[in-house]
Amino acid sequence: MSRKLLIAGNWKMNGLVAEGTNLAKGVAEAVKKAGKVECEFLVCPPFTLLSNVKKALRGAKVNLGAQDCHFAEKGAHTGDISPVMLKDIGCQYVILGHSERRTDHYESNELVNKKAQAAHTAGLKTVICVGETLSEREAGKALEVCTKQIIESVPEDSTSSNTVIAYEPVWAIGTGKVPTTKDVEEVHAAIRKTLAKKLGKGNANKMRILYGGSVKPNNAKELLSLEDVDGALIGGASLKVEDFMGIAKNSGAF
Ligand code: PGA
Repeated sequence: MSRKLLIAGNWKMNGLVAEGTNLAKGVAEAVKKAGKVECEFLVCPPFTLLSNVKKALRGAKVNLGAQDCHFAEKGAHTGDISPVMLKDIGCQYVILGHSERRTDHYESNELVNKKAQAAHTAGLKTVICVGETLSEREAGKALEVCTKQIIESVPEDSTSSNTVIAYEPVWAIGTGKVPTTKDVEEVHAAIRKTLAKKLGKGNANKMRILYGGSVKPNNAKELLSLEDVDGALIGGASLKVEDFMGIAKNSGAF
């Protein structure tokens, strides 16, 4: 089953206008220079940079995404951004249910599901994140936790065209620690099996499942060549053009 690798940068809460615009320009230039690539690129800057980054990416094959959205189309939700607004400003994607949102903003599976449905209705693709904490992993509950998150967070209207899953063990995010390749394979396979039960085999086989958590150029080859790993969601290393592109290069994309 050939699934196009997705190399996605999650910039998190980083970048003032000048810095973020420069980073986007750097990515655009590097992607143009790489020529024909066997992957799809995505960058997800903070809301404040979306417009500038969109302009900076002009002419380069790099998609634009946001890091969260509300489920409503518009209205009395102070401080929130709707999926329709993201679509309007030129986003193709939105990340939902990142562990930092689940922790800092108490986002539940049900809320992530509702947001994802709204994003799909607005014409956005979603990157829905799941992953276990260290104590859950140590208690032998990683598969159970991730499976439950998939069942409850992924809406019924999800297809391989509008949804990407990201498996991000919470304890691997920003820590430099990564699970063993065997553990990554095991969780990815369990996720695909759960998706097959929920959305049918056709969708499950075509849906991309990214790995995220301390992906760097020096571990990209090993992680991204695993069965059922269809790309990476990259935090820290997406803030440096060489590292972001190095991950794509070492994964064999060009
Ligand atoms: P990291 O973050 O690459 O800095 O570990 C990944 C993420 O949180 O998406």
